[in-house]
Amino acid sequence: MSAKSERIEKTRKYLREYLSKSPYFSKNPGQFSYRYQHSLRVAAVGAQIARADGLDEEALVLGCLLHDISYGREFLTQEDWLNHGRESVRIARPWLLGLGLSPEKTEEICYGIAIHVDDEADFPGEKTVLASLIGDCDDIDRFDIYRVYELLEVNGFSRKAIGDQIAWLDIILPAVREYREATLSSPAATALWRERLDFQIAVYENLYRQLTLPGTEWPDERPESDENEEI
Ligand SMILES: [Fe+2]
Ligand SMILES: [Fe+2]
Repeated sequence: MSAKSERIEKTRKYLREYLSKSPYFSKNPGQFSYRYQHSLRVAAVGAQIARADGLDEEALVLGCLLHDISYGREFLTQEDWLNHGRESVRIARPWLLGLGLSPEKTEEICYGIAIHVDDEADFPGEKTVLASLIGDCDDIDRFDIYRVYELLEVNGFSRKAIGDQIAWLDIILPAVREYREATLSSPAATALWRERLDFQIAVYENLYRQLTLPGTEWPDERPESDENEEI
């Protein structure tokens, strides 16, 4: 295994161990799995983008793995949550320096982790392409298919009457189409972002089409669910 892959593997194990020791996650195992898997997915997105755009893959992957490491404690206020990038740096910086990365590379990664939530760091640094990409990779994962499911569930979509479902789609579709137009920090990041958003748009458009098929009648009141009902 090359030194780079070894550092990535060690960091993945460190992240898992760090998060699994959190008292908050011990009480919320589902949250632990989500955060750990999200971090791995963000790192995979980072690797894909770094390879396509000729960037430092190891640095981007390490930053992506560690960007949410401070999630091991519960955020009690909105401010706590807003600070989680800067808090993650307090855990990530000594770990990265211990891996033997140069101080310059460590600082670039840390700056990207610090700014990934609200674009603010509490130490000086440069917003390089690589630093900005940590937040972009995070966004690319957050806007994948799970987001569609989550949004439908949080908004009680399945419990809405048909007219309200259509009205909800009328609001969500233009918003998602607008998000799609965002330009991220590198060509591959923008391409991946648009691919994910195009998929979301297709899901919502197809849902809309299904709900508005001419000649289809939907009762406003849904019958109580029946276990024998065919889906
Ligand atoms: Fe985050
Ligand atoms: Fe994240």
